[in-house]
Parts: sequence; C-alpha cells; structure tokens
Amino acid sequence: MALEITSTGAALGAVVSQLDLTQPLKAETVERLRNAWLDHIVLVYRGQDLSDLQLLNFTRYFGELEYPPSKLLNYSQGSGQKADIPLEINVISNVVENGKKIGQLGYAEAKWHTDTPFVERPPAASVLHALEIPPTGGNTSFMNMYAVLEALPTSLLAKVEGKKCKHDVSHTSDGVLRHDFGESATAKECPGPWHPMVRTHPDSGRKALYLGKRAWAYIEGTATEENEEILDAIWAFAERPEFVYEHVWTQGDVVMWDNRCAMHRREEFDDSERRIMHRSQLCGDIPV
Ligand code: SIN
Repeated sequence: MALEITSTGAALGAVVSQLDLTQPLKAETVERLRNAWLDHIVLVYRGQDLSDLQLLNFTRYFGELEYPPSKLLNYSQGSGQKADIPLEINVISNVVENGKKIGQLGYAEAKWHTDTPFVERPPAASVLHALEIPPTGGNTSFMNMYAVLEALPTSLLAKVEGKKCKHDVSHTSDGVLRHDFGESATAKECPGPWHPMVRTHPDSGRKALYLGKRAWAYIEGTATEENEEILDAIWAFAERPEFVYEHVWTQGDVVMWDNRCAMHRREEFDDSERRIMHRSQLCGDIPV
C-alpha cells in the first residue's frame, strides 16, 4: 500500500498512514514527510511500536537530536527518569515507581506553551510516542501560530511586531518555580533569553507569532500593567478553537510537530490512570 497523508481538516495536522517507522525510510519518503510536516505543522503516525532507539533514529531523519530541558538546564535535582533510558529521550508521565516519578509533567493540565522557549535556540521539533494512555483525558491540542498571526487584529499586531519578549527560565510552563532559581518580583526581572515575537520560519519563509508560555513573559519596553494587558489580549485571541487541532491519543501514536510555528497544551487526566509518553526533539535551527 502506498503512503498516504490526509489532513485532519482542522487548522493544522495530518495523519500519515501505510508507514512502519521501525523500517528504514527511503530518501524520497523522508522528503515527502518533511514537506508534509512543513505544510501541516503536526504529523500523526498511528499504531507504531517503537523502541527508544527506533524513535531516535526516526527523529534523526529530520535533523540533529536535542537533549531534554532537564539536561539543557542541568537541573541539580534528578527527574527520576530511569538510567537505562537514552539521554535524548524525555519521559512525560504521571507514573510513580519506588516512590519516584519516572517522568515530567504529571497528570495536571499542561497549559499552552511552545517547548523550551527559555533557551537561546529552542528545539525545532518535538516527537511524542504514546506508550501508555489513560482511557479518557490527556488529549494534546496544537495551535497554528501562522494562522494566529495572520488573523491578529492590527491593533494587537502593532504591539508585538518588531518587539522582543523575554522567556522566563525560572518557572515551568505551569508557573512553578524551578529548583536552582529564586522568585522574581515581576516578569521584567525574571531571567531568560529574548526572542522576537514575530519571526520568519527558516524553511517555509512564513511569519509566525512566537509566544512561549503566558506566565512570567515580558515584552520589552512595557510597564508591568501594560505588559500583562497586551499578553492577556493576545493569548485570549490565540486560544480560539479555529486555530486548534485536538489530538485524541491511541496507544502507539507518534506525533511530530513543528515547535517553530505551533504551541500545544495537554489536558488533565485522572491520576489513578497511567500515561507514559517518550519524547525526542530536534535541535533548534534559528536563534529565535
Ligand atoms: C509536552 O508538553 O511536550 C507534552 C505534551 C503531552 O504530554 O501530551
């Protein structure tokens, strides 16, 4: 059967079928997948039974592997991730074994964010492989940041175009203070790199809005109240359903998204259920 790529019909996302990711991929197949990924932003591969090494090998077809945030930030507190898991894999899970969390994020909602905006070169792509999923909840939604920018009212566009935003490194995407960091009085004082709010994607040439995460973000040159007002207005606009594809997981799904033009959120699920995802990432190719 020939490879098929079918749009989800939502603002982003396509499903790739008739492809077994445990098998080596031909150069023309990789090219087709890369083009589809650039066009659709999120690609879904159902029913894949991959080892960690196979997940990493698949990811490598598209570029160089990136390390997870815990390694990039050199956390002083161990994440509990098992030592036999490759360093390039980030376990996203609520499961506790022998009193230790085996992964990150837990069961609560992971609010809208782009992955790792708090480094100078955020990853270009993230790839999640669903190993265990709860019967309900834990869906991951993706937001098309080209579409958000294109639809942004001119009054809001004028406030972000040509501006940089500081992406706080001291809190997680849910606003929890990370180990090794102190609390800041306002977003302006938070440590973190500056990224342009509107940036051009290096492969597609299209402009996308780059937001990172809402909490503790700071737009250059604004007073605290003005900063919060502008960001609240932009986030309220961006979170409209017309910009979103919601992925309902089945075990074995592999989902790869373009972190340069998409945000995502993960809804909460029942903590008595197990959810285990293994994530790989591609190195960032633009200092955003
Ligand atoms: C992530 O934020 O990268 C993980 C999303 C998920 O667990 O579905």
